[in-house]
Amino acid sequence: MKILVVGASGRVGSDLVKQLLKDNYQVIGTTRQEEKLFNDDNYSQLDLDITADKDSIQKQIDKDIDAIYFVAGSGGKDVLEVDLHGAVKTMQAAEDNGIKRYIMLSTVFSLDTSKWNNPGIADLKQYYICKHYADQWLVNNSSLDYTIVQAGALKERAATGKVTINDDSAGENSIKDVATTLAAVLNANNTIKKVFSMQNGETAIDEGIAKL
Ligand SMILES: NC(=O)c1ccc[n+]([C@@H]2O[C@H](COP(=O)([O-])OP(=O)(O)OC[C@H]3O[C@@H](n4cnc5c(N)ncnc54)[C@H](OP(=O)(O)O)[C@@H]3O)[C@@H](O)[C@H]2O)c1
Repeated sequence: MKILVVGASGRVGSDLVKQLLKDNYQVIGTTRQEEKLFNDDNYSQLDLDITADKDSIQKQIDKDIDAIYFVAGSGGKDVLEVDLHGAVKTMQAAEDNGIKRYIMLSTVFSLDTSKWNNPGIADLKQYYICKHYADQWLVNNSSLDYTIVQAGALKERAATGKVTINDDSAGENSIKDVATTLAAVLNANNTIKKVFSMQNGETAIDEGIAKL
């Protein structure tokens, strides 16, 4: 299988690429950096800027790609162009290139505006609005086989291998556990057309995903 990871240089993206390569997938990673990020025969790199127009993004994406991960983000610097419009253009490009599977890393409560006054979210309102409408587009305006993984706060700490899915509270995640969850979603057809939230918890990742 040939997998495109949009945002391969990121904290989640780089860990996700490592896991996909370990599982013997052919991986194309995107970054605007020049140096090659991974030295692996199954890895190739694409210099993709998602602020470009949709047609040029589409031309850069091979039609024989089996699945796209979106793990890019502006880190709050350009939420409209990157987290919203950039994301939607990759969805449109995927659809127009006949690619069905699309896995989005989003944020906890992106689709539940009633939680947006919670501490920790209120300060990120612009970002939340952008993730909200990007996720809405994926669910309501695309025919993609999407999965939306809504992670709580990302932390640079050791993997636990365990998660709580769809809890009513926001929590924290080891970045490696988020990458493992994203990788596990790829072949879990029960996650197609599903949105779920995750935080570190008590259930083995594969078990949690199987129950969705
Ligand atoms: N921080 C949290 O606590 C948290 C919680 C839940 C969900 N999330 C989501 O998780 C995502 C990933 O987080 P992270 O910490 O792994 O991100 P990160 O380390 O900041 O990486 C961001 C990635 O986005 C890419 N990117 C930025 N602007 C781009 C552009 N114009 N065109 C193409 N690619 C672009 C970067 O690629 P280049 O190499 O080209 O710069 C990089 O690969 C976040 O964006 C956020 O939506 C975050």
